[in-house]
Amino acid sequence: MTASITIEELDAAAAAAALPELARILRACVEAGASVNFILPFPQSDAEAWWRRAVLPALAEGERRLLVARGADGAILGTVQLAFAAQPNQPHRAEVTKLLVAPEARRRGVARALMRSLEDLARQSGRRLLLLDTVEGSDAQRLYEALGWTLLGVVPRFALSTDRARLEGSAFLWKEIA
Ligand SMILES: CC(C)(COP(=O)(O)OP(=O)(O)OC[C@H]1O[C@@H](n2cnc3c(N)ncnc32)[C@H](O)[C@@H]1OP(=O)(O)O)[C@@H](O)C(=O)NCCC(=O)NCCS
Repeated sequence: MTASITIEELDAAAAAAALPELARILRACVEAGASVNFILPFPQSDAEAWWRRAVLPALAEGERRLLVARGADGAILGTVQLAFAAQPNQPHRAEVTKLLVAPEARRRGVARALMRSLEDLARQSGRRLLLLDTVEGSDAQRLYEALGWTLLGVVPRFALSTDRARLEGSAFLWKEIA
């Protein structure tokens, strides 16, 4: 499958055009139980509003970059963002956020391909220290550790699970890229 995945960067205009598709992936991930800041119920309109409010302006301002993975038919299978640290003394640092792969496209190397391209993008942008956080013990934590990220530590009871049933710990990881 990896051979048929294409990674593409979307600017603010392209992301606006793809907004329903991006929102559908976010919503599908949340409905499948991914704790990525939202809780259920999470309608398509809320997902679209989040992309419009939180992502498009940051893309337009150059504060973030957005990558998508497309399958052979052009459909978006996954996405990830690189958010540049704004602090003047951290021009070499960025955060990785909202790595999302559609539930039906998982375990085929989509996230691995996105993360490889994201590292290239970070390198080209002079951002060599990357940080992220994810749910303790999640598939995502396993993925990041498989990709060479270092676990800094876990903050217990950090956020509600999507169904509000429990508080989950958050694992913080970092990676320095050559
Ligand atoms: C985590 C997630 C992005 C992984 O996407 P994916 O495209 O399925 O991952 P890949 O196929 O590229 O997997 C690459 C490697 O990561 C690890 N990995 C990924 N998913 C895994 C899982 N469910 N269990 C164990 N290891 C896993 C494996 O080492 C895998 O390599 P392998 O398949 O050769 O064994 C996807 O499950 C997802 O979108 N989850 C919900 C959203 C989320 O939690 N995002 C993270 C926000 S910080």
